[in-house]
Amino acid sequence: MDNQVKIFDTTLRDGEQALPASLTVKEKLQIALALERLGVDIIEAGFPVSSPGDFQSVQTIAREVKNATVCGLSRAMAKDIDACGEALRVAERFRIHTFIATSSIHVDSKLRKSNDEVVDMAVAAIKHAAKYTNDIEFSCEDAGRTHIDYLCRMVEAAINAGATTVNIPDTVGYTTPSEFGGIIHNLFNRVPNIDKAIISVHCHNDLGLAVANSLAAVENGARQVECTINGIGERAGNASLEEIAMILKTREQLLGLQTNIQSSEISRTSKLVSQLCNMPVQANKAIVGANAFSHSSGIHQDGVLKAQNTYEIMTPESVGINKNNLNLTSRSGRHVIKHRMHELGYQDTDFDLDKLYQSFLKLADKKGQVFDYDLEALVFFDQTRQDE
Ligand code: KIV
Ligand code: ZN
Repeated sequence: MDNQVKIFDTTLRDGEQALPASLTVKEKLQIALALERLGVDIIEAGFPVSSPGDFQSVQTIAREVKNATVCGLSRAMAKDIDACGEALRVAERFRIHTFIATSSIHVDSKLRKSNDEVVDMAVAAIKHAAKYTNDIEFSCEDAGRTHIDYLCRMVEAAINAGATTVNIPDTVGYTTPSEFGGIIHNLFNRVPNIDKAIISVHCHNDLGLAVANSLAAVENGARQVECTINGIGERAGNASLEEIAMILKTREQLLGLQTNIQSSEISRTSKLVSQLCNMPVQANKAIVGANAFSHSSGIHQDGVLKAQNTYEIMTPESVGINKNNLNLTSRSGRHVIKHRMHELGYQDTDFDLDKLYQSFLKLADKKGQVFDYDLEALVFFDQTRQDE
């Protein structure tokens, strides 16, 4: 089996649809170009039938992006697919993504159709999309809660109809990693034509398991992961692209899988999305949070000064951050104070480390974090006292 995992970014579709205010066409293009630089394989640019603004954004992105496949979403309806085909035809490479729900909860209560009718609708939609392109993705919405027999039947029918990627979404973030991995495993064992398509996954984060579930899926043969920058998306969001990319990179020896992501672009892209979407990133968010490469405990600070890999499993540079950050607090030891003084340009003879450390601890107990300007003020006061 191929060990390349395709990264399908849906920041501009699933991510954007969850924002309180829509992005402008210009802002979406800025994000799309950043995603192209980041090396994503497929950019889901929007849902063209949903509004004239979305149509225009998808068309603009399709025209400007050259190094990624541009994709548009459509329900399993001819008018949606036509809008996608129309918006995307200016692209160098494009994909039409069509979907229909497959769980009995959705089929009975939302679609109010029989299972047979839903299979027919999916097949008709895929055949309609084939008039525009041979790059067709089909999603079984709410696959995580779909009976496995029906899911197998739908996947087989979608591939026979011409879907080249079949996506298995955990739409409501309900499954657990072993359960979701099991669904993918079952599909590979039971669907006879499964090797004719790429199996994709699209996991939501309602129970905080979107990334773990996506990982379980690739361990069971999925070769496309749908995700968003900073994990933005409906409700609790989607699997976070930066986490997926850095898991596969950091644990490449264990997993034997690769992506095309240029990881040094991660921090820049995360900041851009956070700013334009007005969605702050929590400080302790893996990979891109302000504290992801900060060390506070004296033991950890001493460790990373001796050897960075004592407490860092990836370098800050690998995700585009200049260097790690050692917070100066009452837990910091003498070693880090001396190191910071050297970074600030002082020689050992410019300060008395014992005295400075005692004054530092007093200040840290009072104010929590001590900043560089505090440290310099402490040295200045120590010297002034000495001179008097
Ligand atoms: O969560 C979901 O099921 C979706 C589909 C449209 C892929 O976003
Ligand atoms: Zn979704």
